[in-house]
Amino acid sequence: MSKPLLDTLTGLPPSRRPVWLMRQAGRYLPEYREIRQQAGGFLNLCYSPHLACEVTLQPLRRFDLDAAILFADILLIPQAMGCDLDFRENEGPVLRKIGSATDVDQLASGIAQLNKTLSPVYDAVSLIKSNLDSDKTLIGFCGAPWTVATYMIEGGTSVERASSRLAAFANEGWLNQLMDKLVSSSVEYLSCQVEAGAEVLQIFDTWSGDLSGELLERYCFAPIAAIRSELKKRYPHVPVIGFARGIGVSQTDFVDACDVDGVSIEWPVNTRWAATNLIDRCVVQGNLDPLSLIGGGEGMLNATRLILNDLPMERHVFNLGHGIRKETPPEHVAELVSFIRAYDGEAKS
Ligand code: CP3
Repeated sequence: MSKPLLDTLTGLPPSRRPVWLMRQAGRYLPEYREIRQQAGGFLNLCYSPHLACEVTLQPLRRFDLDAAILFADILLIPQAMGCDLDFRENEGPVLRKIGSATDVDQLASGIAQLNKTLSPVYDAVSLIKSNLDSDKTLIGFCGAPWTVATYMIEGGTSVERASSRLAAFANEGWLNQLMDKLVSSSVEYLSCQVEAGAEVLQIFDTWSGDLSGELLERYCFAPIAAIRSELKKRYPHVPVIGFARGIGVSQTDFVDACDVDGVSIEWPVNTRWAATNLIDRCVVQGNLDPLSLIGGGEGMLNATRLILNDLPMERHVFNLGHGIRKETPPEHVAELVSFIRAYDGEAKS
């Protein structure tokens, strides 16, 4: 059976426009909140293959989506490298800070050591794959080295990631070593996800917008390009989607430098600009403002219509411009997906 997401990303004509939503599993779903409570915390959920599989599949039971994305987090890699991690209620992630060559030296990056922590994630991937309908695509993912490094350097979420940016401006040796370790860890992590059944990979660079010029090339493009080229050697048929948030017109350079099969764009990126500048380079994914899903109704549908008008079905993956918010009413997601199906149905007939 054909898989719309995989087909689109590999250049085959899809049977319909693929749709999935970043952070489609999560707190806006009551059934997720129930399982999370049962697990006794977010990290327990990530490391319990049966529960992680269950929450991964929850959104597909409710909505007519084309892909499942592994339920895990980009911060599992730092944890596996030996950087203590905790998720505190209403506070987000807290990590032990990294800020010197000694700190970086102590971090593990070999596959055997990483997998002591990460192997339950691969078990979750296999379970999800064996429970997934044959027309659905399974997406694996990791954070891009820059974004993951910022969480390690700042010790959690930070408003302007000042220590990380200062280290980048100073071209600190320890930052460059950290990036190298994150590149090799990410390659191993994604490879194990592919071995377990992931069919498409997405690399999330949530904070690449911190960077510009030479620093954008050094800390966003180069590490992602290194990960992509090693994966291409190992798994030439597995497509990779890049999400370099906030880099504006540098999206074209990003796609060229990183050789991605798809580029995920955030909502401020004009879709007519994307149609002119990105569509010939790779598939475009995006880019509805997740806030519009909270409001729902005509506001959401008008914004959706503009995206659908601008981006051709065979080169577009419908998605949000960033993760779904926890305040989102699930009914609005259902309304959004049926609207997209009806739009494409009318366009075909
Ligand atoms: O459904 C999916 O998309 C798959 C799972 C997924 C999660 N996080 C689950 C999660 C994915 C792909 C991520 C990626 C992720 N994690 C990113 C990159 C994408 C982005 O959103 O920019 C980043 C920066 C993180 C780091 C992270 N994880 C933060 C800052 C937080 C706390 C903020 C928050 O939303 O609570 C998390 C927690 C997290 N990751 C949750 C989920 C469902 C909420 C945890 C909970 O249940 O309390």
